[in-house]
Amino acid sequence: MAEGFKLTQEQIEENKKFIEEKLLSTGRNGMERLVTWLGNTDFYTAPASTKYHLHCKGGLALHSINVYNRLKAKVDEGLVDLKEDTVIITALLHDVCKANFYEVQKRNRKIEGQWQEIEEWGVNDKLPIGHGDKSCFIIQSCIKISPEEYAMIRFHMGRESDSNNDPFSKAAAFYPAVAAIHTADLETAFIVESRM
Ligand SMILES: [Fe+2]
Ligand SMILES: [Fe+2]
Repeated sequence: MAEGFKLTQEQIEENKKFIEEKLLSTGRNGMERLVTWLGNTDFYTAPASTKYHLHCKGGLALHSINVYNRLKAKVDEGLVDLKEDTVIITALLHDVCKANFYEVQKRNRKIEGQWQEIEEWGVNDKLPIGHGDKSCFIIQSCIKISPEEYAMIRFHMGRESDSNNDPFSKAAAFYPAVAAIHTADLETAFIVESRM
């Protein structure tokens, strides 16, 4: 199973509390229902991916908080103009499609010449309607979101919106600077230069 980075039970609970408080602070109609629904899923204990970023228990919630902090930093530095409730909803819920999505699966792997049964995170998608699309569907079954919020969540993966396995993702996993130049290019072209 996931080696390396791990969260303590205490951190997992702190992250849950942080996310619930932020979501409820938006005061958006229906948010209590969404928070209750989230609490009944594995959202706070699921990994963020099977073997890429934060593939550990609690990784999905931590990733959501990390994206919230990154997006909030862009607002604070004046790069984008977003209301706090929009930052909270889009960042913390952009990957809500991954709730009840991952499961531990047994696989046979050849390790040092011997076939062994090992446990890995795998995908069991019970609502295969896409990635950003699915997050929007789940969110909108409880609360209303604006067209801008819809677009932010729907397209948060960028050009290859439905693929975690595209060449870009593979290159970025190998060379993190690929991701850095991609986001810098996007921010420059669509945000900084659009004001020039
Ligand atoms: Fe994400
Ligand atoms: Fe995503």
